[in-house]
Amino acid sequence: MTIFVTGGAGFIGSNFIFFMLNNHPEDRIVCLDKLTYAGNLSTLKDIMDSPNFRFVKLDICDREGVYKLFEEEKPDVVVNFAAESHVDRSIENPEVFLQTNILGTQVLMDACRKYGIQRFHQVGTDEVYGDLPLDRPDLFFTETTPIHASSPYSASKASADLLVLAYHRTFGLPVTVSRCSNNYGPYQFPEKLIPLMIANALNDKPLPVYGKGENVRDWLYVEDHCKAIDCILRKGRDGEVYNIGGHNEMKNIDIVKLICKTLGKPESLITYVTDRKGHDMRYAIDPAKIHRELGWLPETKFADGIQKTIQWYLDHKAWWEEIISGDYQNYYQRMYGDR
Ligand code: NAD
Ligand code: DAU
Repeated sequence: MTIFVTGGAGFIGSNFIFFMLNNHPEDRIVCLDKLTYAGNLSTLKDIMDSPNFRFVKLDICDREGVYKLFEEEKPDVVVNFAAESHVDRSIENPEVFLQTNILGTQVLMDACRKYGIQRFHQVGTDEVYGDLPLDRPDLFFTETTPIHASSPYSASKASADLLVLAYHRTFGLPVTVSRCSNNYGPYQFPEKLIPLMIANALNDKPLPVYGKGENVRDWLYVEDHCKAIDCILRKGRDGEVYNIGGHNEMKNIDIVKLICKTLGKPESLITYVTDRKGHDMRYAIDPAKIHRELGWLPETKFADGIQKTIQWYLDHKAWWEEIISGDYQNYYQRMYGDR
């Protein structure tokens, strides 16, 4: 099979490519990535010369470029990770989120219709369900929970999901959608909670916790997410949505304290800052469907995954130091300067 992986120079896409090359060496992977601020070619450096891997710098909104690549490579499967992915940036500037996340998805699906495809898989997020209250630990998101997006980011991802399901119903495009909870692991861009806190703690910088730090996220080790997508590609049913989650709810403040403890840094670095606008309180996925139908279960316990992740950031300082020394400084000043 030839598999197009869009957004493969980002966090989850790159982990997915590594997983696929290791576990399905018979498949050919073509990575399409625009290399936005979040895409890092250095992440893919070790596989650049692999015979069954090709990297193409391409914007998924570039219809002509996408069609040309489809004509050339004739993919069997497309897995769409390409997206603007950071909620805070979507609050600052929503437009590019609508462009890439919605219109880019449309371009890819139009190409699939034109040239044919065995499966188009949309990598979605649990954020499309909105949030749950802290005092109702009995509630979880299922695939039938109504869409109720809070941020421009989640609204754009919800729109993309709807468009994908509409292309299935109207044009018969063979699609699947997954909606996953918060991922953590190697190669996550240091604007996100866990790598930002690790990088700041290592540099003895303040650890900016939004609001009271009581918001809850359901954390999943990135490799488990990759395994779930692989399962859906091979065994999932066309037109279906699959929730993916770790059954691992944690308060932000507890994660930040754990990072301090592991790195031997004082909790006095923790600084409570102005809350995120429209901040979702709690996400919690019910992954019963993917377990029941496809046999998938998360394998990495948070206690192990977070230690592996912290160790990875300690061992790969050059990777993230290069990122935070560049334009990231301007972003950090804008986002946290007066907070
Ligand atoms: P990321 O920001 O680390 O990577 C996104 C990648 O997409 C980057 O390599 C970037 O260069 C590329 N990209 C952006 N715009 C593009 C465009 N127009 N054309 C081509 N490439 C483009 O994101 P991530 O955290 O790896 O998330 C990947 C996907 O998974 C996203 O769709 C996101 O919504 C979804 N998701 C993420 C999480 C999470 O916890 N990170 C959880 C659930 C779902
Ligand atoms: O749930 C899946 C989603 O998880 C994905 O769809 C998104 O792409 C991904 O970015 C992530 O969204 P979150 O908003 O949950 O992740 P983030 O790492 O930005 O924040 C996690 C929590 O930590 C959230 O409650 C906000 C808080 N936070 C975040 C940052 C960056 C802080 O308290 N301080 C910070 O500096």
